[in-house]
Amino acid sequence: MASFYKRLIVQKIIKCIKGNKHGKELQQIEDYIHSLVQVQPLKKNVGSASGCQFSVDISRLSICLDGSSERFLQTTHLDEKDYLQTFADGRFLNIKVPKDKFTKKILEEIRSFTSDYGRADSKCGRPENICVEYSSPNVAKPFHVGHLRSTIIGNTLSNLLEAVGHSVRRVNFIGDWGTQFGLLSLGLQRYADVEKLKSDPLLELFNLYVKINQDVKSECGEAPEMTSLTYQEGLELFARLEKGDEGMRVLWKMVNDLSLTELNKMYQRLGVRFTDIMSESSYQQKTADVLNYLQDLGLMQYDDHGVGYVQIPQEKTIGRASVVKSDGSSLYLTRDIASALDRQEMFKLERMHYVVDQGQRGHFTKLLHILNKLDVPWAAQPIDIVHIKFGRVKGMSTRRGKVVFLRDVLDEAKSRVIESMRARSTTKVTENIEEVGDIIGVTCIALQDLKSHRANDYTFSWDRALNMKADSGIFVHYCHARVCSMLSGCGFSVTDDVDVKLILNDINLQNLIHHMARYPDVFSLALVRLEPHHIVQYLFKLCHLINAAYSSCPIKGQPVAIAQARLLVFECSRQVLVNSMNILGLQPLEKI
Ligand code: ARG
Repeated sequence: MASFYKRLIVQKIIKCIKGNKHGKELQQIEDYIHSLVQVQPLKKNVGSASGCQFSVDISRLSICLDGSSERFLQTTHLDEKDYLQTFADGRFLNIKVPKDKFTKKILEEIRSFTSDYGRADSKCGRPENICVEYSSPNVAKPFHVGHLRSTIIGNTLSNLLEAVGHSVRRVNFIGDWGTQFGLLSLGLQRYADVEKLKSDPLLELFNLYVKINQDVKSECGEAPEMTSLTYQEGLELFARLEKGDEGMRVLWKMVNDLSLTELNKMYQRLGVRFTDIMSESSYQQKTADVLNYLQDLGLMQYDDHGVGYVQIPQEKTIGRASVVKSDGSSLYLTRDIASALDRQEMFKLERMHYVVDQGQRGHFTKLLHILNKLDVPWAAQPIDIVHIKFGRVKGMSTRRGKVVFLRDVLDEAKSRVIESMRARSTTKVTENIEEVGDIIGVTCIALQDLKSHRANDYTFSWDRALNMKADSGIFVHYCHARVCSMLSGCGFSVTDDVDVKLILNDINLQNLIHHMARYPDVFSLALVRLEPHHIVQYLFKLCHLINAAYSSCPIKGQPVAIAQARLLVFECSRQVLVNSMNILGLQPLEKI
């Protein structure tokens, strides 16, 4: 809360303990003290917030303070006449901030930090090299909603880490290798319709993928896939590709190019970017080195069928991690090991985050276990930090039925948004309605996805995603556009030279200021926990508070001094709204 006050309090306390603490230790203590500073509004009259009270639990500080809390209180001189009144009660040290000082200070902070407001507090002292891997779809297989979640969550986490100064490699690890290629090639041979392939390649590839898998299913029924002749033929084709067969290579390249072009269109619509596109296929050769390495370390074992594996001792349910098939061909896990070693060498990483659905928990447990043995530094971190897990999306469908492609979801969001905009008499956009509809549609999908804990499954709902009245992308855009039009159409320009005493009794403005003061804390919570929902929930509440203040504290028709003071608060709220949307990778619109 209120970065200025927190900083002041933390600095004062730190001064008392600085003597024998240095560097990293001091930084940890500072972070700890920061987390101990709690804040609550001071209620003088019912219904009217009258300033703030910060409390520090001194007893919990004893680990970093040598001596008793009484002595601490005597040695810290926390009476900062301008801003603070300090008093101690029992185990708490309380710092009261009068309403006028608090209001003035918060508005000043937002105005001076502008787009940095919120993140400035969390700026990392020592920037780290961090890799965030997200999206990672498979070509020759449909892009599913899990990939959409990974894309949206990973992009936001990268924004958060970058915003505080870390150097972030945004990696998309394309799944362009595996049995599915053999099967798809067979589908192309058996059923391809060149015309359809030209007019809508992705749809045709998908249909072929479905058809060939139906063939497998009808041949093997409930028995293992291996019993199907079609499946065996697919495996053979894939083996030819692995051995470098020219014809298979050409086919593989064509499918890859088509899929990547389509994917890039999606990324552009979503406003998502990557710094490195890596592909599983490029690690196919390097898996031989990995296997040798594991062999040298004495970690490789072979079962009776000739499958090579590494034993994972502590994970009873997982047991073995297979790293090479009996015919010597590579596996997903082995390609992941090779890619991790490569990333480590190229980027000299301090941290690595894989944003992948929780269904792959077992895979990442194996991966980290092996990387740990290979001395990859970041692999020693807890699995839930390295593997950023997320839950499933249930019930996503469009008017045409079950979702097949991401583009269908985005198209439908766009057309639904345009319909509801057209139905609204206040809608101002007429020319570029398609573009605006798309931006809002994407925001609706992204916010619905990011609004709850990422580990939770959620049920997709168009009504919720497009709710005009609350907690949706469209609601947020309307709120921003309303503030912008008020700021530009009120006939005043924003000035910092205002008399805050004139707004101390506007309860809705005060509530808004309190909420704005919380933004730096919410930001750091999202950053530390790698949980975007904290920012989304904050954003929704901010919009409700702005709407309430907008209705009860008009600017037009007010005496100049009052209008100026109110206007400054609205300008600050616009800034915080923009900051929180930007960090989520969203573009606020000025006109709807
Ligand atoms: N392409 C994989 C899939 O769709 C996800 C890859 C996750 N990342 C990784 N490094 N294994 O299932």
